Amino acid sequence: MRILGIETSCDDTSIAIVRDGIYVEAVLTASQINAHRPYGGVVPELAARMHTQAIHHLLPRCLEKAGLTWSDIDQIAVTTTPGLEGALLIGVVVAKTLGMMLNRPVIPVNHIYGHIYSAFLDTDTPPEFPFVALVISGGHTQLWSVTGHYQFELLGQTRDDAVGEAFDKVARQLGLTYPGGPPVERRAALGNPSRFKLPRPLRDSPFEFSFSGLKTAVVQLVAEIGTLDETTVNDICAGFQASVIDTLIEKAGAALRHSQASTLCVVGGVAANQTLVTAASERLVGVRVVAPPRHYCTDNAAMIATAAHFFPITKRGDLKELRVGTVTM
Ligand code: KG4
Ligand code: ZN
Repeated sequence: MRILGIETSCDDTSIAIVRDGIYVEAVLTASQINAHRPYGGVVPELAARMHTQAIHHLLPRCLEKAGLTWSDIDQIAVTTTPGLEGALLIGVVVAKTLGMMLNRPVIPVNHIYGHIYSAFLDTDTPPEFPFVALVISGGHTQLWSVTGHYQFELLGQTRDDAVGEAFDKVARQLGLTYPGGPPVERRAALGNPSRFKLPRPLRDSPFEFSFSGLKTAVVQLVAEIGTLDETTVNDICAGFQASVIDTLIEKAGAALRHSQASTLCVVGGVAANQTLVTAASERLVGVRVVAPPRHYCTDNAAMIATAAHFFPITKRGDLKELRVGTVTM
């Protein structure tokens, strides 16, 4: 079974071909980060227009890279939610068109489930059920209990900022580049995490997160200090990252105990943070921590194809009409 995946929910246009839900035969992603950078965030109209331009180039190149032709594709998978409506629609229009041309089913995929299924890509030892998924990205911070394929229970999520968003905002405060996760992690490795004691939020609510207070604490600290030297930037990054890591690991640990699971999948863009993944493996004794390689952590279409592969036929509903926000196609 070969599935062609399409992902256009935000600022990455991605096409992938995945065999049997695990083996990635090709994945191509065009990032729009440089186009959105001057605006300090993703501009929805611009994102949709750029997906339209990129997707036509990526489709034939992806087939070529995999050494396949259209007739080798058995199904099409496309992200339908959550995301920017105009951006999602581009992927869905292309998926529906391909489905009609090739006479193949089009499977709608939830982007979050895609992130969870990224833990199954390119591995001979996929996570075993039950597991807990910590989904951490620029838009989401969630803990899920997963007891089987498409048996998801949302245990808790953030009340305000997503963890990746907090990394991005702290980076901006410190004059570091966007997206903020990578430079903050690099600077934190050089800094002293104990110099500035930053808050560990929402300790009394086991599965919920809140990062806006931590972000505000950094803003206040920066205002108090005034001029920042390199060492101070490193120390603030280290203090901030230590607070985030402590919080994520503490809550993931509680979710594992609650779900009686011994596997934790850390997925989403922030899972590219090696300091977090290493700390989770060290501190969660007896727990197998699964984190996909960096290129499957950030948004990509391989995870969408995999999520479609494992989507039980009985739960798919009527595939003739796909819903994107208020639009039915
Ligand atoms: O999953 P993703 O590519 O897009 C969304 O769906 O949001 O995640 C992007 C987020 C950004 O906020 C970025 O700063 C963060 O992932 N990120 C990191 C690291 N690499 C990317 N955060 C912390 N440490 C990293 N090394
Ligand atoms: Zn994502």
